[in-house]
Amino acid sequence: MMNRILFACLLLSLFSGGSSLSCRWLDHKFRQYNEKCLELLDAMVNNSTKPSEDDELDVDFPHDLYNQTSKASTRHRLVFIVQVLKEVFKLLEKNHSLASWEEQSVENFLNLVIRQTHELRHCIGSHIHKWKNDDLAKYFHTLSNHITKMGHSAEVWELIREEIQLHLFRVHQLASSLMTNN
Ligand SMILES: *[C@@H]1O[C@H](CO)[C@@H](O)[C@H](O)[C@H]1NC(C)=O
Ligand SMILES: *[C@@H]1O[C@H](CO)[C@@H](O)[C@H](O)[C@H]1NC(C)=O
Ligand SMILES: *[C@@H]1O[C@H](CO)[C@@H](O)[C@H](O)[C@H]1NC(C)=O
Ligand SMILES: *[C@@H]1O[C@H](CO)[C@@H](O)[C@H](O)[C@H]1NC(C)=O
Repeated sequence: MMNRILFACLLLSLFSGGSSLSCRWLDHKFRQYNEKCLELLDAMVNNSTKPSEDDELDVDFPHDLYNQTSKASTRHRLVFIVQVLKEVFKLLEKNHSLASWEEQSVENFLNLVIRQTHELRHCIGSHIHKWKNDDLAKYFHTLSNHITKMGHSAEVWELIREEIQLHLFRVHQLASSLMTNN
């Protein structure tokens, strides 16, 4: 009897995360979902849309933020990933009708992103806002303003598509560093 109670407590502490922050989704599903997202983004390319120098994005890709975060705590890394996915979702909510993307592909992409965000969010627990990265938020804010400034053009959306692809690559690296079975 005692053993069973002990066992139950042990299980409970395992699944409630504790400090080890176990995340089954990250270990078992994340990679597959992220790869599917990348495939969809690949398929959305329209080769006749060629951005010119005038379309160049106003802001550099935040490699430095990813670099800093790769050395941060498990929780910080996970929060960072969730924040990126949320911001990507927000960007694609803007008017992208000129991008001539198949709406079904965009929807499928967004559904995968929502699922990833939702499942990873579960692994983090409460007070997620305290860990938010302000510089990352600022970067996405600038991107969003840039899309508006460029009149939501097909060219600017092509650049954004590539930018998002790069984010998913870097998010993939960050997530891999957190997987307990890699
Ligand atoms: C676009 O170009 C890439 C590389 O040049 C090529 O692999 C791809 O098949 C092209 N896509 C379409 C739809 O033409
Ligand atoms: C980020 O780290 C990579 C590899 O460690 C390095 O090559 C790159 O220069 C760094 N970038 C920035 C902006 O810190
Ligand atoms: C989105 O942009 C297109 C092209 O500029 C425009 O025709 C359409 O009305 C816009 N849609 C919304 C919901 O604002
Ligand atoms: C690709 O873009 C061109 C011009 O921007 C547009 O005319 C064409 O319909 C697009 N192709 C597809 C498959 O959406």
